[in-house]
Amino acid sequence: MNSFKKEEIVKHLTCNKNRNILKEADSIRKEHCGDEVHIRGIIEFSNYCKRDCLYCGLRKSNKKLTRYRMTADEIFKAARKVEEFKYKTIVLQSGEDDYYRIEELCGLVKRIKKEIDCAVTLSIGERTYDEYKQLREAGADRYLLKFETSNKKLFVFLKPGSLYEKRLKRLEWLRDLGYQVGSGNMVGLPGQTLEMLADDILLMNKLDLDMIGIGPFIPHPDTPLWRFREGTLELTLKTIALTRMAAPDAYIPATTAAGSVDPAGRQKALQCGANVIMPNMTPQKYRKYYEIYPDKICLNDQPGDCRMSIKTIIESLGRNIARGYGGQG
Ligand code: 5AD
Repeated sequence: MNSFKKEEIVKHLTCNKNRNILKEADSIRKEHCGDEVHIRGIIEFSNYCKRDCLYCGLRKSNKKLTRYRMTADEIFKAARKVEEFKYKTIVLQSGEDDYYRIEELCGLVKRIKKEIDCAVTLSIGERTYDEYKQLREAGADRYLLKFETSNKKLFVFLKPGSLYEKRLKRLEWLRDLGYQVGSGNMVGLPGQTLEMLADDILLMNKLDLDMIGIGPFIPHPDTPLWRFREGTLELTLKTIALTRMAAPDAYIPATTAAGSVDPAGRQKALQCGANVIMPNMTPQKYRKYYEIYPDKICLNDQPGDCRMSIKTIIESLGRNIARGYGGQG
């Protein structure tokens, strides 16, 4: 794949009946990662966000959204639930919310790492080098920061007040600090061309990522992009497949967004390169408010139901649930 040219990727993305690349990606996944599917329990602990990204329902200008913040104790309790389910990774995600002091977040990470045998992944947006350093020293193992699109113009259009170069710089910092680093994009964004998607795939390869999240864009009615069409599952699956070829050893989730545009979206993603699934472990009472896009799946499930459906999904594909951390813990 290192020899994959942009034109070739575009050709694959364009081709309508190309099931071969999906199959090929599935065998590369099998060869490099085996049949294990890694489970990451995600806790969405605050939906406050100081940013105003055009695509996201949590954007600060969305006054219709009921906002919530979980306390450190509530977050810890939710982490205990993840432990009870024997999931070995806890992902803490939020909007960009400066309400939590860095000491508080570090204290929480330390407590989780001390009392629960798990890997901790953070997904809390753009922070300073020093903050990333403190969180790493507190014990955080991994960090997710999607670049969303590798096209600079589209990036600044979609993320006012954010700079593409700064985003990439942060991914470098995180790597230097010893985090396992995750990034990724959205597929089918307004104004996104297949050439841009090919560049995204090349960038994922260049960044040598540990984790790569790819999901379709889903228009949210209370954002400026409400009129646009959602990204198709088909193009998302092709992007996942080509990304697997570009990054044979990466942890690639079958995203909730893929499952939200098609009831079998996550199964299909697991069959063309994905090897991770991220059940929602946010307490029921907050879950519906973490509405980054509409009609997110699992909204009314108890965490237990989510586990059942995830077990069913994995086993029906002839795959098995990984027991280890999936990456360093
Ligand atoms: N559609 C699909 N994915 C979205 N995200 C945010 N808003 C949307 C949307 N409207 C994704 C972004 C972000 C992740 C947490 O959710 O990729 O990084």
